[in-house]
Parts: sequence; C-alpha cells; structure tokens
Amino acid sequence: MKPNLRCSILKGMALLAIITQLPLAQAQTKPPQETDEQKQARMAWWTEARFGMFIHWGLYAQAARHEWVKNRERITDADYQKYFEVFNPDLYNPREWARVARQAGMRYFVITTKHHEGFCLWDSKVTDYKATKTPYGKDLIKPMVEAFRAEGLRVGFYYSLIDWHHPDYPPDRVHPMRDNKAFREKAKNRDMRKYVDYMEKQLRELLTQFGPVDCLFLDFSFPGNDGKGRDDWQSERLLRVIRELQPKCIINDRLDLLDQPGGWDFRTPEQFMPRGWVTVDGKRVPWETCQTFSGSWGYHRDETTWTSVEQLVVMLIETVSKGGNLLLNVGPTARGTFDQRALDRLNGIGQWMRFHSRSLYGCTAAPNEFKKPDHCLLTYNPKTRRLYLHVLVWPMGKLHLDGFAGKIKYAQLLNDASEVRFAAQKGAWMDDRQASADTLTLDLPVQKPAVTVPVIELFLKP
Ligand code: GLC
Repeated sequence: MKPNLRCSILKGMALLAIITQLPLAQAQTKPPQETDEQKQARMAWWTEARFGMFIHWGLYAQAARHEWVKNRERITDADYQKYFEVFNPDLYNPREWARVARQAGMRYFVITTKHHEGFCLWDSKVTDYKATKTPYGKDLIKPMVEAFRAEGLRVGFYYSLIDWHHPDYPPDRVHPMRDNKAFREKAKNRDMRKYVDYMEKQLRELLTQFGPVDCLFLDFSFPGNDGKGRDDWQSERLLRVIRELQPKCIINDRLDLLDQPGGWDFRTPEQFMPRGWVTVDGKRVPWETCQTFSGSWGYHRDETTWTSVEQLVVMLIETVSKGGNLLLNVGPTARGTFDQRALDRLNGIGQWMRFHSRSLYGCTAAPNEFKKPDHCLLTYNPKTRRLYLHVLVWPMGKLHLDGFAGKIKYAQLLNDASEVRFAAQKGAWMDDRQASADTLTLDLPVQKPAVTVPVIELFLKP
C-alpha cells in the first residue's frame, strides 16, 4: 500500500473512532465485514463439499487412551516427555490417508497442527516442541497437505488455543496442573500476552508456508472463572491476522466472538446431532458437526463403542438433510497408520458414497413443502432441482409421499438408475387415509436394494 494512502486510511479510522467514541485500538481491530452474499460465495466450496475428514494426531496417540490423557491423568510435563522422546511414526504415508479419504467421499480434511498438549506437527520456528525434534525428525504437515491436495481435497488446519506445554501459558480450570498448588504458585507470573505473541507467530507460519488454507478450526474458549476467552486470546487480533493473510479462509466459532459480526463463519456442534438446521437469533447459519467413530478423537486402543457403517452413513445423510456438514474424525496410530476399525468404516462409507454421493454434494434441506415420510430422510439439490429420498427402513412394496402428487416428473433408484414407477394413490384396500389428492405412491421392489441406505432420486417438474 502506498504510504499516503495508508496514512489517509489511518486518519479515517481515527476520525471514525472519535465519531463513534471507540478507542482507536478497538476500531482498528474490527474484522473486515462482508455481506451475506459475499460470505455465501466465500463458503460455496465448503457448502457444496458437505463431508470432510478430521484428523487428530499427536503424542497422545502413543498413550492411546484419549487426546486429553495429559489432562485427565494430570500428567506433568516431565512425565509426558517420554512420548516426545519415542515419537516415530515410521509407517506414515499421507498419500495412503488421502486416498482413503477421497475414496470415502470426503472433500476436505482438517488436521490438528497442534492440539491442547502443545506438540506441533510442523517445523515451527518458535518452539522445539515439534515433530522435527523427535526421533522421527521430519515435518508431518507439508507432505500431508501435498498428498491431500493431490487427491483433490481442500486443506484445513486445526490449531489449539489451549496449550498445556507452553511456558507462558497460565494454568486454568482445564489445565492438567489445575490442582497442583506448587505448579500454580510457580506459574503465577506467566504472561498471557507472550503466549498470544507465540500463537500469532505460529498462525502466521501456518497461513504462509503451506499455500491456501481453506479452513481453520481454532479450539477452544471457556470464558468465566479460571477460564479463557476472547480477552485472553486477544481473539480479534488473531482473527485480523488470519483474515489478512488468508481472506478466503473459513473459520469456526470457538474464538469466543459469537456476538460479533464476522467473528465466525460456521457453528460447530460437537459429537451430537442437532434437532434441525442450526440457527443463531432465529436465522439459519452454516454449521458443521464434528463426530468420532467411538468417542475419542485421538487414537484409542481399548475403546469399544465404535459406530457401524450404517450409523455413520445415516449420520451423514441426516446432517445434510438439516443443511449441515459432517467432519468425521480419524485418530491415526503412532506408527502413522489408520487402524483397521477406521479403515473398515471409511471403506463402507466409500462404497455407499460411490453410488449415492449425488444425494449429498451440493445438497441441503428439502424445501418446506416436502415433508419426509416415516423412516426416511430428505435432501435436495437446488441447482438440479432433484429431491433425494433416503429410505432407512425398506417398506413392503409401496411408499406413500403426502404432498408430492403432481410435483414429480421422474423417479429412480440412485444405486442402479432403475425406474421407480409411481401414481397418485387413492388409498389402499380398507384404508382411505391416503386418499388425499396430493399423495403420490412409489412402487418399490419388494427386496431392498443391496446397499446400506437405498436412495430414490425424484426429479421435480419445472
Ligand atoms: C474439543 C476437545 C478436543 C477435540 C475437539 C474437536 O473441544 O477439546 O479434544 O479436539 O473438541 O472438536
């Protein structure tokens, strides 16, 4: 920017600050605003994609009993160090991961560049607590980014605001040393501002050294007593840096800036299925639910509550039927591989996606006039004007669709493009409840198609 242009912008901001009685610093730190249309355009690839892979990987993969192990077991830095000293994922081959993700139908990935334990997977210049200083000795992020991009996936970085290792990070109520009086006493002069400088430097590295970062998942704020929120993280400052370096980047909602316009791009319901499209002040907003296979994000050897392929496919469909995205997590092992349980599920999802992804990519909730029948989920592609009826429980021969009569031009099973015949139905024998003129009845094969969840594609009349 030319110096005199810059100068007049600054003058303008100062004037604005005086007029609006805002302190100058605050006026300067407001994130750039955009219209709803601009935001929609910026997020278009993400809304279209609908399905991504979360990857939680760090030293905790070796403990193999949850990524919060340091916190849960109140492990000291000294005791946690053993994981750093042996970390050596010798089988790590990100091209394999990327292929598995693509074949599962995922269109973007989000990797924990640093989780709460503070360990960095890339070669950060501002710490030695990183992969390059372990026996493995190499950067893990660059090859991962390259591999996933080569498979056509967009790139997302998770970055933990919380840091249980950094020497300037003041302990709080979710810190592993929360109850350790001696630790707290020693840490009482820790300077949060220095830690924020560190975060800013790391974010600058992440946002300048790996090409376009399509989305960023910052984790997480817990304001209030003995917690941390926007003032501690200096959230607006971080946000400004991010928007400056990567204006297109899509950012989650955990900076504690929920009430601020432009303070977040999408909501992140975690490990639960929202009852409907997520709203803020009554308005539908972009949202992404992040989910695990079994409860833990990091690799967990002994966890047994793994969901089935069918549950996961239904979860994905249900998410899109409510206008959201699904970020499904894998916790790779410390050898650098996806374990068999994860592979089985990703494969199963992929087999279904091969024939049915059309009912999800670019799709969203069905228009209000179309109500889902019992045991079904509906999605809709506004561009092609096709409705997708996901049949969770296969009925006996007929499927009645109230309110659909006269609106459908053609119907087919998605898995094999075989025609599904239909007629306006006057009610079955001894039952004229369906006799309403707006009911359309599909004529289905008695046998359920041999796919996890059959989908009927309905072409709307123009
Ligand atoms: C949580 C957890 C965490 C996980 C994340 C995923 O906030 O602290 O371990 O990374 O959510 O959304």
